[in-house]
Amino acid sequence: MSPILAISGLSKQFGGVTALAGVDLTIEEGEILGVVGPNGSGKTTLFNVVTGVHKPSGGTVLFRRRDITGLAPHAISRTGIGYTFQQAMAFAGLGVLENVQIASEHARATGGANPWPTPQALLDFVGLSALAGEKAGVLPFGSLRLLGLALALATRPSLLLLDEPAAGLNDRETTALVGLVRQLPGHGITVCVIDHDMKLMQMLCRRLAVLDFGSKIADGPTEAVLADPKVLDVYLGGEL
Ligand SMILES: Nc1ncnc2c1ncn2[C@@H]1O[C@H](COP(=O)(O)OP(=O)(O)OP(=O)(O)O)[C@@H](O)[C@H]1O
Ligand SMILES: [Mg+2]
Repeated sequence: MSPILAISGLSKQFGGVTALAGVDLTIEEGEILGVVGPNGSGKTTLFNVVTGVHKPSGGTVLFRRRDITGLAPHAISRTGIGYTFQQAMAFAGLGVLENVQIASEHARATGGANPWPTPQALLDFVGLSALAGEKAGVLPFGSLRLLGLALALATRPSLLLLDEPAAGLNDRETTALVGLVRQLPGHGITVCVIDHDMKLMQMLCRRLAVLDFGSKIADGPTEAVLADPKVLDVYLGGEL
């Protein structure tokens, strides 16, 4: 089977800063791929270029063999690529369920790629039904992140990009999140996740890709990558 996403020679310059320096990466249908790397290594930029938030300086992105390089974010979202942000985001003044309804209606109006349940079912899935009527702005941080996941799922993605989904979550919330993310491939959603927490990545991902200064320095089975001297080197004294 061809990969759901095929990235070739992807580069991104911000003025004099090279955030991505010719990255090749494929994501296989139905997998949960992890992307790791030190701060500033280009992980978020990779997602931003794939989702159209930033235009690449070079290279191509094929989604199900279709060239989506440099398309506008709404066009890329419509093809079935969903995204959660490193900062949790929702309409603070609106209710929790209302937020998901708006995202769902928008997806329906623009034609999402995957069939997917109602806003209420999405809230049930992420475990926020009891807070459906609360204003999003008063949610505790962990719940706000779960709402972010529900909002991303409401766009009916077939590929979901998660940028540090567990940042700021406590152990109980992280375990709950792992349980949710693991279910996604069973719903036809391929996942690519960025995180600094290697324990979390080991729980979620059979394969890891490692970025360092905008280049991919390793890509393979999680345990092998975490034992790779090149990878240990970039984390020397750091998080591993
Ligand atoms: N919008 C932008 N304008 C200018 N420089 C940027 C922009 N976004 C990212 N950069 C730079 O590109 C490089 C890669 O940043 P990026 O945010 O992709 O790293 P990251 O791997 O996600 O880091 P972190 O683990 O801290 O989230 C950094 O040097 C960063 O300062
Ligand atoms: Mg980042």
